[in-house]
Amino acid sequence: MSNFPSEKPVLVTCGLPYANGKCHIGHLRTYIPADIFVRSLHKQGQDATFVCGSDTHGTPIVVSAEQAGSTPEQFIEQYHHHFDEVFKDLGIKFDFFGSTNDPVNHNRTNEIVNKLIENNYVYPKKIDLAYCPHCERSLPDRYVEGICPYCESQARGDECDQGCGRHLEPGEILEPICKVCGSNAEYREQEHYFFRLSSFKDFLLEHLDTLGGTANARNYARDWVQNELRDWCITRNLEWGVRFPGHDDLVVYVWVDAPIGYISFTEEYCNNAGLDWQQIWQGDSRIIHFIGLDIAYHHCIFWPAMLKGAGYSLPWAVIASGMVKIEDKTFSKSRGYVVWVNDDYLDHGFHPDLLRYYLASYTSHTKELNFSWTVFKEKVNNELVGSLGNFLHRTLHFANKNFGGVPEGQVSPDVLAEIRETIQNVTEAMDEYEFKKAIDTIMSLSAYGNTHFQSNEPWHLIKQDTDACKRVVKDCLQIAKALVLLCEPVIPTKMKEAWEQLGLEGDVSKMTYDEALVELESGRALPKPAILFNKIDDKKIEEMEKIMNKRVAEAKAKEEKTTSAPPQVQEISFEDFKTMDIRIGTVVSAENIKGSDKLLKLQVDIDEPEPRQVVAGIAQTHEPGEIVGRQVVVVANMKPAKLFGVESNGMIMAADEDGAVLLHPEKHVENGTSVR
Ligand code: MSP
Ligand code: ZN
Repeated sequence: MSNFPSEKPVLVTCGLPYANGKCHIGHLRTYIPADIFVRSLHKQGQDATFVCGSDTHGTPIVVSAEQAGSTPEQFIEQYHHHFDEVFKDLGIKFDFFGSTNDPVNHNRTNEIVNKLIENNYVYPKKIDLAYCPHCERSLPDRYVEGICPYCESQARGDECDQGCGRHLEPGEILEPICKVCGSNAEYREQEHYFFRLSSFKDFLLEHLDTLGGTANARNYARDWVQNELRDWCITRNLEWGVRFPGHDDLVVYVWVDAPIGYISFTEEYCNNAGLDWQQIWQGDSRIIHFIGLDIAYHHCIFWPAMLKGAGYSLPWAVIASGMVKIEDKTFSKSRGYVVWVNDDYLDHGFHPDLLRYYLASYTSHTKELNFSWTVFKEKVNNELVGSLGNFLHRTLHFANKNFGGVPEGQVSPDVLAEIRETIQNVTEAMDEYEFKKAIDTIMSLSAYGNTHFQSNEPWHLIKQDTDACKRVVKDCLQIAKALVLLCEPVIPTKMKEAWEQLGLEGDVSKMTYDEALVELESGRALPKPAILFNKIDDKKIEEMEKIMNKRVAEAKAKEEKTTSAPPQVQEISFEDFKTMDIRIGTVVSAENIKGSDKLLKLQVDIDEPEPRQVVAGIAQTHEPGEIVGRQVVVVANMKPAKLFGVESNGMIMAADEDGAVLLHPEKHVENGTSVR
């Protein structure tokens, strides 16, 4: 018996992409199978709501925005748009794609956190946190690096990403170093708020026993719950994020408001569509989360405990994919082992459906997936071109050429039985989240079709026994129709075209699998078919591999450069030196820049009609008040730049000794005096 259709409302979500970088094929291992699953639910007659959105908070976003010289708002907007576009290009059809920075999510997070406080699941505690004396700030999460207290590997403030994989609590990291300035950080006592995760142990063990989805997620979580379940610090000292109720200096940890996005996106979608979101999140429903195994801990431990503590419905299934590797190497953007969806795939003219097919059919969903251009080419050429494309084309071409449409006669019972069994096996595989198995099953129907065509030799029959020929063609057309319906969840754009080639009306994405058993009407005209899939040639693949190798080599060179001897400084000529316009000026005003604790905005009189506006990285060493009236040395012909949205038209010279030491003339000189 299949799990679907069910009476209960079904919600499917995907791990929210961080609005912090471009989409790569690692991400797609969450989104493509989820989209295939939802499309397949529709084909089983099951309505499902499918939501996702950008994860917009947390320290990496603040740090990246700072580096890009933009505000977090501008920064997340750009990537939100990027993901939205890429998903559309790939046929990943969310009903709603929101943002965790939407007001609805701020409100829902507030409501849930307040509920947890009310239910006595949150308590304050003083802890020693990494603090950078130089930057004069506390260092949450990614602002600090150090040594993992459990396995002694190099670790980030919030996770031991290169060692034991543990989630690290604030204050746990040893030998902390400030990520902003590289100085040794110290510990300072601060009050933070903790969620009583440890009190959910029994609940979680029980929950994990009934949770559906893939076993890898449950087993991973069960191990942690049985061995160590520590209370969870849910506040951070940051400006950017969802305010912790009643504390202007604290926001909630990003892993609190991010999964709550699943609720608020459902809310936003349902409110727009006139549906009842509470039926899903507070009633009897099936909530299905697609994620990568890297975030199983959060989805199978933190999240259900939070939901339980605040009185919400629990997940029904968590489906965790294995991680994506690139050409046998661990996925790594900094080392060049990455395939960007736009730059490395779509922009080279590859069809989105080919990638969907490859990612979903290459290996079992819970296994690691080792991306390889050669395997990609082979799967496309052998399976999509050689089997499916070949069968659809030869059938449609033969029918169109010899009969101009669907011939008379009935589909043979054997063929209908084969189709029925395939549908059955495909839905069973989908129920088990075995996408590869589902696709392999579909491809065996394609192979069956090819054999049926080949062994019956309709090209001979047409001359000897027209009726027999018609039967074969009718059978093959029916198999073609079934294949198009079965493949639609996987390769939706191509199958939309194929549906039209079968002369059929309506939207194939809205048809159910049962439609595959409805016999094609005899006499219905068939248009002249076009080729659906083309072979990828070796040259193209070599080109793609070259791009990858070049990127890896560049990353390696860059790494060697930064880790080897001190940089070689090039000699310059006097002519070169003369290209610099260096002048003395007087600071006439100075102010802090909102959102930055390193930068000051200065107006400097260099004897021009208007003072020069210069942004200088001296806020940590200089109070605005103390430098007004001082003479400084200005590089006046620096290319203008924007920092934190503020234009800078020059540079103030300073010696760099553990902070900025400003240069200034020996005695007072006229503003505008040049320096040689
Ligand atoms: N923002 C968090 C998820 C919050 S969910 C409340 C996050 N973002 S992510 O951008 O890093 O990843 C988005 C999705 O892609 C996640 O489901 C993640 O597991 C998946 N993957 C990202 N890189 C991956 C691989 N290299 N391999 C497989 N899946 C990976 O995590
Ligand atoms: Zn610092």
